Amino acid sequence: MLDRCGREIDYVRISITDRCNLRCVYCMPERGVTCMRHEDVLSYEEIVRTVRALAALGIRHVRVTGGEPMARRGCLTLVERLHAIPGIETVSMTTNALLLDGCVAWAKEAGLSALNVSLDTLNPDAYRRMTRGGDVSRALSVIGEVLALGLQVKDNAVPVRGMNEEDLPALAMLAKDRPLCVRFIDLMPVGCGAALSPIPTDKVLARLCAALGPLAPDAQPHGFGPARYVRPEGFARSIGLISPMSHEFCGSCNRVRLTADGFLKLCLNHTAGLDVRALLRGGASDDELQAALAGAIAAKPARHGFFENVGDREARRMNEIGG
Ligand code: GTP
Ligand code: 5AD
Ligand code: SF4
Repeated sequence: MLDRCGREIDYVRISITDRCNLRCVYCMPERGVTCMRHEDVLSYEEIVRTVRALAALGIRHVRVTGGEPMARRGCLTLVERLHAIPGIETVSMTTNALLLDGCVAWAKEAGLSALNVSLDTLNPDAYRRMTRGGDVSRALSVIGEVLALGLQVKDNAVPVRGMNEEDLPALAMLAKDRPLCVRFIDLMPVGCGAALSPIPTDKVLARLCAALGPLAPDAQPHGFGPARYVRPEGFARSIGLISPMSHEFCGSCNRVRLTADGFLKLCLNHTAGLDVRALLRGGASDDELQAALAGAIAAKPARHGFFENVGDREARRMNEIGG
């Protein structure tokens, strides 16, 4: 469906849990995290009902996120159920990969069409520091398994000054011989990200160009998100840049978000949205649910407004929003 700005909204990101097995510095605090209460989190039944209503409104692509989606029991069963909803064309997942160890084949059978894996560095010490405890060799081994099964994989890396800035060209090299796009994301001042120092994607690009040679634009889509892609000579896959801060892409935004506690978020940086859980649990009919979703989506904010004093600025952390 079209929103009031004339943007086609066909993509929903669904956070199924705010819990995570890691504590990435830009996402969650090291200690003292209060998680959502189980009774506040949407059941899989409620998520499926919401996605059916969204599919009737023209949503075609679903991305399952967290926290870490695999930290919630039955995540792949949900993927299977979402995949079976008429009108839904792709179901993908954003994950840190660690908990997929041992169930990659099942992930493929469940109908997952692509995986985005958060991996900010190949340096074991830097990875351990950035994730506060993760083991990079385990993440790489899962990525290897997923690639061997022929699933599409993209890497997500958030460059942070003083943390992984030296490691970016080596990370980009993953795309040289493997069918794996490596994407660099502007650190966003959301939650814990606000206390860290970003490296804008243009700086990253200049550094990659110096290390890898000329980068040719790659117009081919590698998903349904806001990344733009370039390819160094001789590389099997491309390097992606996601630049919400340095090259705003809100004018072509195609998405809404559903938080684990059932709130339809219309934009990453705004609290505006719809309490879907109240409708689901308050006895709304399918028609009422659909009408409320349509009304909310139509009113999606025009821009994130990270640089302005937005009245309804989001105060939740990235693990609660789902990225
Ligand atoms: P595909 O292109 O389909 O692979 O999806 P994606 O890149 O949108 O998904 P992913 O979960 O991998 O997100 C990558 C990064 O982009 C994360 O840091 C997200 O927070 C960020 N991102 C995704 N959508 C938006 C958006 O609408 N606005 C902003 N500001 N950032 C977004
Ligand atoms: N800024 C940019 N990206 C972030 N992510 C988490 N927190 C931030 C932030 N503050 C990314 C993770 C993950 C995706 C869902 O969001 O790297 O890949
Ligand atoms: Fe967990 Fe992803 Fe947040 Fe890291 S970025 S703490 S892996 S939810």
